[in-house]
Amino acid sequence: MTEVIDGNAVAADIRESLSEHIETLIHNDVTPGLATVLMSDDPASETYVSMKQRDCEEVGINGIHVEIDTDAPAEELYGTIDDLNSDPDVHGILVQMPLIDRIDSRRVLRSIDPMKDVDGFHPENVGRLVAGNDRYRPCTPHGVQKLLSAYDIETESADAVIVGRSNIVGKPLANLLFRKATDGNATVTVCHSRTKDLEEKTRNADILVAAVGVPELIEAEMVSEGTTVIDVGVNRVDADTEKGYELVGDVAYDEVKDIAGAITPVPGGVGPMTRAMLLYNTVKAAGMQEDIGINLE
Ligand SMILES: NC(=O)c1ccc[n+]([C@@H]2O[C@H](COP(=O)([O-])OP(=O)(O)OC[C@H]3O[C@@H](n4cnc5c(N)ncnc54)[C@H](OP(=O)(O)O)[C@@H]3O)[C@@H](O)[C@H]2O)c1
Repeated sequence: MTEVIDGNAVAADIRESLSEHIETLIHNDVTPGLATVLMSDDPASETYVSMKQRDCEEVGINGIHVEIDTDAPAEELYGTIDDLNSDPDVHGILVQMPLIDRIDSRRVLRSIDPMKDVDGFHPENVGRLVAGNDRYRPCTPHGVQKLLSAYDIETESADAVIVGRSNIVGKPLANLLFRKATDGNATVTVCHSRTKDLEEKTRNADILVAAVGVPELIEAEMVSEGTTVIDVGVNRVDADTEKGYELVGDVAYDEVKDIAGAITPVPGGVGPMTRAMLLYNTVKAAGMQEDIGINLE
């Protein structure tokens, strides 16, 4: 029987486990604070940011939201980040990506104080992750790791195949899965749009992660019996629903679910974990910045 990996349940457990640490912080007169910054009219980005703010409220993190007009000069965004960098009540800063085209997103990421970079995308934090000395693991890859460990899916010596090499998912996840650690030690293959014979690679996976952004790219014949399939993809496709679309993953769920050993649904798999791990990093950031012992990896 295929096990359906319940991201909502694992995320709820993580939020629950954070409440003890948040209490410790509050006991020390510190309320963890997360600032979200939005400079975009993209409806999906607006939704993501409002969900993140709602999550903060639910667990007792002080959520601050700054919206910058898409017509505003870039300096307004940099000025906002500078202000948040020096605000002692803000422990984590998240600038919602993608930004509008004329803004240099690399410069934006560099301008966030690395100690407050709870997304883990500042070059300093990327470098630390690659060196095996991470400060903040990026939320989606970390969420994938937590899902695997919650379902006792061993990464040790496993063949992990990741389809997608983005800076936010594929690359950091590869680094986390092959590093020398109990939640690593996998042999990782990273595939992308130029990969030759993708099916040959994916069929070799014990753990197959799809982070592509192509609806239902991974079909049944690309998956071997018993593989753990983690679907990171979130794609809006036109549908006869109230909103006019539905969300589908990068995996053809209905056909793959009977072959996989375990599989994440979309929605309800990786998505809730990404949100939970942002809260996790914010609590960790508050502990580090305030020098209060919080035992989070
Ligand atoms: N659930 C969550 O919390 C969460 C978080 C982040 C992202 N996502 C979703 O995950 C998906 C991927 O996001 P991303 O930001 O990583 O995407 P991205 O930056 O667009 O990267 C996509 C990757 O997929 C590769 N690719 C594209 N078409 C391919 C094909 N036909 N065969 C093999 N590889 C192919 C690309 O190869 P090249 O490098 O050669 O172009 C690239 O490496 C999206 O649906 C996104 O919405 C979900």
